[in-house]
This record gives sequence, structure tokens and C-alpha cells, in this order.
Amino acid sequence: MSILEVTEENGIHLNHNCGEVCACSTCHIYVHKGEDALQEISDKEEDFIDRAINPRIESRLGCQSIILDADAVIEVEIPDQKRIIGHEH
Ligand code: FES
Repeated sequence: MSILEVTEENGIHLNHNCGEVCACSTCHIYVHKGEDALQEISDKEEDFIDRAINPRIESRLGCQSIILDADAVIEVEIPDQKRIIGHEH
């Protein structure tokens, strides 16, 4: 399960304009805690993070952040999404 799927299941809005195929950066998140419990970042994901608004060292794409340890404590911040085209809320 990805971080994006967790947000969806819990009614938390996170854009995902490309349909979760690592072809946009609208699901950009900051992972503050628990990054070791996530699947490693790929070169393609890094490329799209570079195109996100305000990328940081702790940036990930929500749809590519697959949770490998179901018991891990993972803290995530969703950046302001108002400037993303296709923002629904
Ligand atoms: S939804 Fe496009 S990269 Fe995650």
C-alpha cells in the first residue's frame, strides 16, 4: 500500500493527476519520519520530485511511497496544493 492509498482510504485529499504511474509531481509529500519503512526512491521518482513545488531532501511522491513495514510510524506532510492544476478542493 502506498502513502497515497492511505490518504485516499482516510478521506485526505492528495492530488494524483497522472493516475499513480510516476509521471507527474502532484502527489508530492514530505516524509518527516519513517522513511526507512518506505520502498526506496527510484531515479524516475527523483526526476519528478525535481519538478515539484519546493522540493526538499525529505520529498517523496505519495503514489511511489510504498509502505514495506505495516507497523512503522510514518509522519507525512502534504504541501500546499493550491498551485497545482487540477486541484479539486
Ligand atoms: S500521481 Fe503522478 S506521480 Fe504520483
